[in-house]
Amino acid sequence: MASKDQPSGLTARKTVEDIIAGGEGDGHQLSKSLGLFSIIAMGIGAVIGAGIFVLTGTAAAQYAGPGIMLSFVAGGIACAFVGLCYAEMAALIPVAGSSYTYTYATLGELFAWIIGWDLILEYAMGAATVAVGWSGYVVSLLKDVGLVIPARFTAAPGTAVKLADGSDATAFANLPAVLIVALLTLLLVRGTKESARLNNIMVAVKLTVVIAFIVLGYGYIKQANWTPFIPDNDGNFGHFGWSGVLRGAGVVFFAFIGFDAVSTAAQEAKSPQRDMPIGILGSLAICTVLYVLVAAVLTGVVPYKDLNVPDPIAKGVDVIGIAWFSALIKLGALTGLTTVILVLLYGQSRIFYTMANDGLLPRLFAHVHPTYQTPYRSQLLIGSVVAVVAALVPIGILGEMVSIGTLAAFILVCGSVIYLRRSDKKRPRPFRVPYVPMVPLLGILSCLFLMAGLPLDTWIRLVVWMAIGFVIYYVYGRKHSVLRRRDGTAA
Ligand code: ALA
Repeated sequence: MASKDQPSGLTARKTVEDIIAGGEGDGHQLSKSLGLFSIIAMGIGAVIGAGIFVLTGTAAAQYAGPGIMLSFVAGGIACAFVGLCYAEMAALIPVAGSSYTYTYATLGELFAWIIGWDLILEYAMGAATVAVGWSGYVVSLLKDVGLVIPARFTAAPGTAVKLADGSDATAFANLPAVLIVALLTLLLVRGTKESARLNNIMVAVKLTVVIAFIVLGYGYIKQANWTPFIPDNDGNFGHFGWSGVLRGAGVVFFAFIGFDAVSTAAQEAKSPQRDMPIGILGSLAICTVLYVLVAAVLTGVVPYKDLNVPDPIAKGVDVIGIAWFSALIKLGALTGLTTVILVLLYGQSRIFYTMANDGLLPRLFAHVHPTYQTPYRSQLLIGSVVAVVAALVPIGILGEMVSIGTLAAFILVCGSVIYLRRSDKKRPRPFRVPYVPMVPLLGILSCLFLMAGLPLDTWIRLVVWMAIGFVIYYVYGRKHSVLRRRDGTAA
């Protein structure tokens, strides 16, 4: 090992060889069961969800008007820079763990821990956020068929709700959100292949619904609804005008989160070096095109001012006037949200699996079931925590934490590409980001830009979350690090 790779102080760093030859849990391996189709479906599964089914309407009504189409283009371009970087890293280091792993090989153990800790915000908190969105849609769908879930059990404690008799009350907990997390956790415990199969079916359903909306809605677009395309700014930054398009991009960034989940499946992919880049960039490209088209149809059929509702796409369908399609849309949205939760829960367990193999988390997280070949204990623990968070925390706070955590992780991945290109020039790269360092730098700048738009409270929560992470690293991770023990530098 070159001297720069020797662990010292804060910079214990793995080589790429270390990582590729890395551990395999408790003697049992994750199975190599995922083909290209499942991998792309996994990307689309994690991406199309609450962002398009819920946030598009809010962002158009409050910030961008029909210009929300441009917000999606901007979000897609920012994610494309990052996606290219993820593709290079996922093909170069095809093991589970995503950006955590890449950071270990570049910036060292402390930064890897920071990113792993940070990714909990993207994956576990992301799953909780979307579970809360799922709860909203299921409550509305059941109401359509005459089944009313008592409002007290459909939101975070303290949220003001209206009871069936019209009186005001405060909610107790969000139980439908708990239910969906519990069901999907059990599915993931049962097996990756089974989960991937169900994911493929659900992705097909949600794609059909989204495409049907575009095709059926196209004929109902009124040019008048698109004029003005970018409504005049109302005097406040971020409220219409170009600044509104930018703020809209910050909000709909959530809709793109998840394309990187593909990289957490690298160890279970049959041919990761070919399929990772195609999976990441392919799912990102498909989703961006669909988002822009959905936004175009939606703002074309419904005046943007009327879109500030929890189920904007269903509102668009009401204008189209096909009653059965409205129910189908809600069902499609529900399916869409389900796959997002599924893939995020899956991704979280695979990141913990890798961190536990490195000794930074207890072995429990790397324990693989002998028959199911899944890290079932970890999956159950993650499911329990996510269910509790989804039951108790409001969606707004969760969503912003997810965005800031994800953006921070994206920045480190872009930085890692630049670093490894210098430190490890000769290693064959099955996929290469063009124009390095320009493209990764543009990725970093776009992420910083989107982060800057998030409220101060969210930044403070991020700092507190990170501080807790530091304490855990110094109390546990540093002492148990496999790399440090091997090299005799464990604290
Ligand atoms: N992109 C995912 C969604 O929109 C997180 O639900």
